[in-house]
Amino acid sequence: MARVSKLALIMAALQARERAVAPYSKFKVGAALLTESGEIVTGANVESASYGLTCCAERVALFKALTEGRNHFTAVAVVARMAGAPMPCGACRQLLAEYAPQAKVWTADSRSPHRIREFSVAKLLPGAFLKVPGNRG
Ligand code: THU
Repeated sequence: MARVSKLALIMAALQARERAVAPYSKFKVGAALLTESGEIVTGANVESASYGLTCCAERVALFKALTEGRNHFTAVAVVARMAGAPMPCGACRQLLAEYAPQAKVWTADSRSPHRIREFSVAKLLPGAFLKVPGNRG
């Protein structure tokens, strides 16, 4: 299994960003998840005329991966044209905490992909709500 570097995952997110569907905000975001076995699953944000239906790049990547049978992730890369690099929103942090709790979060400004910031999912959402009390599922 080939080891995927931070930069390679950022580059995959950068490529995914090209397919963002963001006609309203014009803010294109790309994400790339790295699985334990070295696979990469990408996503980009998709917006709706009914703005609240918009789905972030991170969630698109996560939903794709989960529904393709991937559920062990070691990292997620996020890129957008943003000084200081984009940070996952609260909703995405929740889902990452649930489905990619061990993942590193690598973020970069699309104009300077070599400058990569690193966080952990655990640090981005301390005290996450992870289980419905009494639910056995
Ligand atoms: N967005 C993402 O895709 N990921 C983030 O981490 C932050 C925000 C998208 C949602 C929307 O399409 C646009 O950026 C503006 O909020």
